[in-house]
Amino acid sequence: MKNILITGGAGFIGSHVVRLFVTKYPNYTIVNLDALTYAGNLENLKDIENSPNYRFEKVNLLDVAALTQVFQQHQITDVVHLAAESHVDRSITSPLDFVYTNIVGTVNLLNVAKTHWANELDKHLFYHISTDEVYGALGDEGFFTETTPYHPNSPYSASKAASDHFVRAYAETYHMHTVISNCSNNYGPYHFPEKLIPLFINNIIHKKPLPVYGDGKYTRDWLFVKDHATAIDVIFHKGQINDTYNIGGFNEWKNIDLVKLLCKLMDEKLGRAVGESEQLITYVKDRPGHDRRYAIDATKLNKELGWYPSVTFEQGLAETIDWYLNNGEWLHNITSGAYEKYYASMYTNR
Ligand code: NAD
Ligand code: TYD
Repeated sequence: MKNILITGGAGFIGSHVVRLFVTKYPNYTIVNLDALTYAGNLENLKDIENSPNYRFEKVNLLDVAALTQVFQQHQITDVVHLAAESHVDRSITSPLDFVYTNIVGTVNLLNVAKTHWANELDKHLFYHISTDEVYGALGDEGFFTETTPYHPNSPYSASKAASDHFVRAYAETYHMHTVISNCSNNYGPYHFPEKLIPLFINNIIHKKPLPVYGDGKYTRDWLFVKDHATAIDVIFHKGQINDTYNIGGFNEWKNIDLVKLLCKLMDEKLGRAVGESEQLITYVKDRPGHDRRYAIDATKLNKELGWYPSVTFEQGLAETIDWYLNNGEWLHNITSGAYEKYYASMYTNR
């Protein structure tokens, strides 16, 4: 019996983790704690919201009293911490939001967990979800391993790096049982359309320009979000205490090649002429401090815990496109109102 607190469960990856844990482990109680910022959306969890082992708490990580209340009320036994500000471009315009949520929020959560678990710290797990962006940028060669030194380049990755350091420090200093995973770029259903793949799917649907930053030759390693969720499941249950695991897709793409593939697949799905959507590609001003290449070596996770991605990129991308085409209402609901202002402010100056 476990009462697991999953933070950020109304966001993109968190909603997949909540769904997996709620359905796979009926004996666990899953408490989803989320402040419901612009990125949090309870529509992401409509299919499981009435499950008997699911609870939702609208709480901000900066509210220590409310966090304490959640731990007491639900007798939380373990934490899977995903809540964060997650978009690099927003971190460039508003770095302090990232300091508050990603650093202060994580330390608040560590403190409340430490106090609540008091003399039984070895019976409880604090699992912190992080990103490969903490390692900085690669050149044309090489991969990030678990021993690559941290070298964050954006306010987002700097704030995630700081939170990772605090988690590790709490394990050393207070003997909390922790584990950290650093994952590459995710894609899939319920992804907020400010990130590359869902933004471009939405723009292709509406025949809007596809703003490719710089020369388009930046490289990312893409992982289907449901495979990230299964990796989190495996690490939560079988990972070494106070260890760290890289999670990746073994799937590197230059942005421009990925965008062209997306255009081709969307043209086929939408019955458009060959090459029609590619004409929407527009090169725009580069992102400041743009990391050239991320590539994860996830061999340790594969060798130690037997995890490997279950779908190919072609399968994952096809499922993702179908999901967006079949969920026009979800997309419409989040791309009206505040989203339009965000889009105008981010993209008019580029
Ligand atoms: P997201 O932006 O979609 O969701 C973040 C969630 O956190 C939202 O539901 C939001 O409401 C909530 N939240 C934000 N601030 C909060 C606060 N102060 N208190 C409580 N809740 C708050 O993010 P995501 O893409 O699902 O990422 C989840 C986690 O995974 C993050 O920690 C991120 O750093 C990490 N990660 C993401 C990726 C990726 O490709 N998206 C890759 C590797 C790691
Ligand atoms: P993004 O999805 O924001 O993820 P991250 O920056 O965390 O890797 O961006 C993925 C890549 O796509 C990155 O190299 C930046 C680029 N990109 C564009 O070229 N245009 C865009 O409009 C966006 C949002 C991203």
